[in-house]
Amino acid sequence: MNQQEFWNKKYLRDGYLYGKKPNAFLLSCIGNFKKTQRFLCLGEGEGRNAIYFASKGFDVVALDASDIGLKKLEVLAQEAKVQVKTKCVDLNNWEPSKKYGSIVASFLHMYKDDREFLFKKIESCLKEGGFFVGEFFSTNQLKYESGGPKDIDLLYSIDDFSNSFLTCSKHKIEEVETILDEGKGHQGKASVIRVIIQK
Ligand SMILES: C[S@@+](CC[C@H](N)C(=O)[O-])C[C@H]1O[C@@H](n2cnc3c(N)ncnc32)[C@H](O)[C@@H]1O
Repeated sequence: MNQQEFWNKKYLRDGYLYGKKPNAFLLSCIGNFKKTQRFLCLGEGEGRNAIYFASKGFDVVALDASDIGLKKLEVLAQEAKVQVKTKCVDLNNWEPSKKYGSIVASFLHMYKDDREFLFKKIESCLKEGGFFVGEFFSTNQLKYESGGPKDIDLLYSIDDFSNSFLTCSKHKIEEVETILDEGKGHQGKASVIRVIIQK
């Protein structure tokens, strides 16, 4: 099953799997993002982050492999009376054609072997001074039942980020234990990697 089939099946169910509120860590970083520059959400799913940042005046583009997730994002955008540009694409095939002032991702489960290529694309399409901010499940998440994949190749370590983004300043790359309260999909104690990286 490819990523689109996998995620479409999940998003076909009623409701918003990770809720409608933005990810708390991305929200806490809002001060890093410039409203005058394009804002890109990677693996944005049903759109909770995209809608929030669009409602705050950012010019948001959301990418995801799931067309069902992005349709639900569009419904949420209409309800919130905001505009978000969407594109259904597998990030392994994504070819960035624009530059972005901000790039965010919450719980984007990319396979370990695909990360380096994606990180290079993120680095290349960030504007000088722009930020990449993300929260990802760490390999230690395997011991928790609060959500996330049970396949270690989809979980992250600090090294994944410290060995990449070589032209950037790494303000934060840390592994923390937190309590997630994000819809039905993420509930309870979790181990995450948080990154704040600046071009
Ligand atoms: C756990 S969900 C998180 C969704 C959203 N970021 C959130 O936090 O609510 C992971 C998302 O990443 C997307 N995704 C996973 N692998 C992808 C890939 N290779 N290309 C594009 N999207 C992908 C899935 O379709 C899914 O929407």
